[in-house]
Amino acid sequence: MSLSLPQPLGLSLLHLQTNQPLRDLIASRIRAQGPVTFAQFMEWALYEPGLGYYERDYPIGPDYLTAPQLAPDFAHLLAEQICQFWQVLGSPSPFAVIEMGAGSGCLAEDWLAYVRSAYPALWQALEYGILERSASLRRLQQERLAGFGEKVRWLTWEEIPEEAVTGCFFSNELVDAFPVHRVQVQGGSLREIYVDWAEGRFQEVLGDPSTPALEAYFARLGIAITTYPSGYQTEVNLKALEWLQLLARKLRRGYVLTIDYGYPAQRYYSPQRSQGTLLAYRRHGTSADPYGWVGCQDLTAHVDFTTLEQVGESLGLKRLGFTQQSCFLVNLGLAERLAALSQEGAEEVGQVLRRRFALQALLDPLGLGSFGVLLQAKGLSEAESAQLLRGFAEPS
Ligand SMILES: C[S@@+](CC[C@H](N)C(=O)[O-])C[C@H]1O[C@@H](n2cnc3c(N)ncnc32)[C@H](O)[C@@H]1O
Repeated sequence: MSLSLPQPLGLSLLHLQTNQPLRDLIASRIRAQGPVTFAQFMEWALYEPGLGYYERDYPIGPDYLTAPQLAPDFAHLLAEQICQFWQVLGSPSPFAVIEMGAGSGCLAEDWLAYVRSAYPALWQALEYGILERSASLRRLQQERLAGFGEKVRWLTWEEIPEEAVTGCFFSNELVDAFPVHRVQVQGGSLREIYVDWAEGRFQEVLGDPSTPALEAYFARLGIAITTYPSGYQTEVNLKALEWLQLLARKLRRGYVLTIDYGYPAQRYYSPQRSQGTLLAYRRHGTSADPYGWVGCQDLTAHVDFTTLEQVGESLGLKRLGFTQQSCFLVNLGLAERLAALSQEGAEEVGQVLRRRFALQALLDPLGLGSFGVLLQAKGLSEAESAQLLRGFAEPS
């Protein structure tokens, strides 16, 4: 059976799928002001109000699955760890938990429901804040979390006074969604990749670095990037540095927990990884072409955890631990949950199989299980910093 659409609907559907208005808008800006950095292009493609991938009225399509979308267990185990943070800090009240980049709001929903029933004392002390830059996702989250009433508040960085937060900032797949600069080594010097519009399409051109911060980034890491072969390309996430500065300023006492895919710098910037890590995600497929489905595909780059650690330390965020997501979740009880699944006769077989698949996917060493989990802290005493945290115990 063939499905034919009336012409006007067909056309608007096409516009929806290719996001032609966003393409046109970016092209017209580039024609007016000349080539822009890739970071600027990515900023528009993801966050242009009303049109960017995260800003449309129908964001987060079936393009990829994150851990909290797979199974509520991810949020529950994260709550176990954050509950321990609260106890280590002496069970303060209020205790702020601030989620940055909350997506569809499903992690918050599962996290809050779990804490409300499993940890009533923490629930009493809890103030749950969400920092979300997408207006469209903020609306979605507000609808979804309406049942939690005053317990959840949407914040902006400006609203949080300096040194005001006692608690925990956390994020899952936030830093990989920051717009990145792209650079290329050419004849022993560092060049930046700009995006131009010519012959009816986006084209990449090389130019001088738009900011000295790009060269400084590699100098801080001690990586002699300009000795790499000509043509070597990679990304630099300068937004992550601004974000760390905000965190360090707003946090008075507590933790920063960052979960994302990435590598230590030596691995990220190894000469073998000569085309960087930038990927476009659409309909569960990946592509290396960031210009194909502008505004209809996610764009992401891996996270350089070494820089988060180094720059964090210089800002007073002490590195307390780093582990893989699989170890983190197993330490917090994922294996017991998997084992318990076989005992749960009450659940229908299909349901059990789906849940088992989801839990195993959280541990997949080639997928979500290999994500990095970085823990930093500020304002803790020596004794508090030395406390063994469940998620970061040595794997047995
Ligand atoms: C890849 S999604 C991850 C969503 C969710 N954490 C999850 O795991 O499903 C990235 C999220 O970060 C948000 N975001 C990106 N930059 C942000 C920023 N600077 N501040 C707050 N949220 C941001 C996006 O709008 C989106 O909600």
